[in-house]
Amino acid sequence: MARLAIKGGNPSAKDLFRLVPPWPAFGEKEKRALIEVLESRRWCRIYSGSRAELFESSFAEYHHAKHGIAVANGTVALELALKTVGVRQGDKVIVPAVTFIASASAATELGAVPVFADIDPETGNISPRSVREILEREDGVRAVVAVHYGGNPVNFDELKPIMAKNGVKLVEDCAHAHGSEWRGRRVGAIGDMGGFSFQESKSLTAGEGGIVLTDNDEYAAKARLIHNIGRVLGRPGYEHYILSSNYRMTEFQAAILLAKLDELKEQVEKKHRNGEYLADRLRRIGGVEPQKMESGVTKRGYYYFIFRYDQEEFGGVPKGKFISALRAEGVPADVGYGMPLYRQKAFSRDAFLEVMPPGTKYPGYDGMYLPGAEEFTKREVTLLHYVLLAEREALDMIAAAIEKIKENIGELKD
Ligand SMILES: Cc1ncc(COP(=O)(O)O)c(C=O)c1O
Repeated sequence: MARLAIKGGNPSAKDLFRLVPPWPAFGEKEKRALIEVLESRRWCRIYSGSRAELFESSFAEYHHAKHGIAVANGTVALELALKTVGVRQGDKVIVPAVTFIASASAATELGAVPVFADIDPETGNISPRSVREILEREDGVRAVVAVHYGGNPVNFDELKPIMAKNGVKLVEDCAHAHGSEWRGRRVGAIGDMGGFSFQESKSLTAGEGGIVLTDNDEYAAKARLIHNIGRVLGRPGYEHYILSSNYRMTEFQAAILLAKLDELKEQVEKKHRNGEYLADRLRRIGGVEPQKMESGVTKRGYYYFIFRYDQEEFGGVPKGKFISALRAEGVPADVGYGMPLYRQKAFSRDAFLEVMPPGTKYPGYDGMYLPGAEEFTKREVTLLHYVLLAEREALDMIAAAIEKIKENIGELKD
């Protein structure tokens, strides 16, 4: 019997971070790219031939999209997408109950009201059935924000017909899904628009950053105008065609992203292979079931590697204790966002109404209980994507640490 590290034993994965590369990574290429921007004295993207322009076309091409509009971060990417597809104050926007809060706050920033859809507890993604039920029940829904949770693409085959039938726009939240594919097509412009994040923890990063993708020419022109405070790039700087805000990405961000884009392409392939390998290892342990992927998923870009912890299989030991034990072994496991969004303080009556336009009716978030979201968050365990950038030995260490805990679960029962 091995003693668990949390009980003073030897951590079985103590060498894990010798095998996992540091994140975010950088080298001479990134340093040179930044210095070039500094020395060019063109730090803002408003000149033609900007790095932001080149990044937009390069990233859009990689993601099989016709247009890209680079922005300051992933939150405003979603805001810009929702605004562009026509979401206005008082509209409703369907959002999955389990996601980062920006998927919902992008709507409230426009004065629109999030309506939480349940999720499929096996995939972690928005449930098409729940979306259909909301559309049957509610008037005034303008858009659905579909999050590819952890990088796992949503079921477009089921969602798109529902959107089309109800005249509702589909905005993909791709903050977790760089490189993810549905039936051979990369996500982002499969729906009407898609928003990505390049925040520090994401698969492609400049510390902060974002992009909106679309195949729709009109949306692209409109988003470009909105993102540049109503100006048209290339026209005189003080001609404004609409009232809006400034969402622009800096040239420093664009330079880093351009320097890292080729690396992302290779990393997506490696993470996909390693994700499959780790999933296979976990399936054989039992009680730690990897997040299910639909058959339409042809490539999984990862933000989170996720598995569902089955307390019964681990002798009734609660998830929190299991995670503490796993961390003590050296595996940086976590709980994702920890709760359905409707349980966040920000969605309590007073906090919500304070930021919404006068006259907004409180949708009763405080009394919500969506079974799929509850079940998923109760069991969800996450590992950040960069562990999948290590060699197989590291993944074997993770699996071995879980096996060790399972074999010695008695030590956690007190
Ligand atoms: C699902 C999801 N949507 C949107 C965002 C917002 O991105 P950003 O942090 O770049 O504003 C994030 C970032 O964490 C996210 O995880």
